[in-house]
Amino acid sequence: MKDNVSVLFSEEQIARRVAEVGQEVAKGLSGRDVCVLGVMKGSLVFMSDLIRRIPLDLTVHLVRVTSSREQSAGRVQTEIVFSTAVPLEGQDVLLIDDIVDTGITLSYLLAHIHELGPRSVKVCALIDKPEARKIDVHPDWTAFPVHEPLADRFLVGYGLDWMERYRGLPYIGTIPRPARSGPPRE
Ligand code: IMP
Ligand code: MG
Repeated sequence: MKDNVSVLFSEEQIARRVAEVGQEVAKGLSGRDVCVLGVMKGSLVFMSDLIRRIPLDLTVHLVRVTSSREQSAGRVQTEIVFSTAVPLEGQDVLLIDDIVDTGITLSYLLAHIHELGPRSVKVCALIDKPEARKIDVHPDWTAFPVHEPLADRFLVGYGLDWMERYRGLPYIGTIPRPARSGPPRE
């Protein structure tokens, strides 16, 4: 299974960068009680490492987003499901996402979160692929920006999957990009 994966960011690189991002987030949110909202399932590994590197009082919640796309037909459908009734009103929310690609999922999620009346919302992403953006939305912090031509490879590992596989790899790797339409992605 791992044979066709090329390592992009090693365990050591990830650990170093996550520690840096944790400090940056703590600086940006200092004095706040942070309500962490992790987007399942892709951000689970990143979130579990990152929250241990943010020296602030925080609560941890999960949200589930399923996006199914028929991009070739121009039809975009994103389904959002909150895994718990998270009380976000008046909260300083830190949304932790795995990959911001077209931005469709993140903008959809942010619109729903804002409806719940939080005091502030910041976004921390593991991976940002800025050149793939279709909607103008940007994370406040990013562990690893990935630019062309690498953005055209499919990233797996460290929580990221292809068809539910590869999430347990301790590093982030790439596989040749599979067809873009397919089963729902999380
Ligand atoms: P967006 O709505 O196009 O920004 O898609 C974001 C979501 O697509 C991410 O949260 C991932 O679940 C998935 N995704 C996009 N690119 C990749 C990738 O290279 N590897 C794994 N998942 C990806
Ligand atoms: Mg995702």
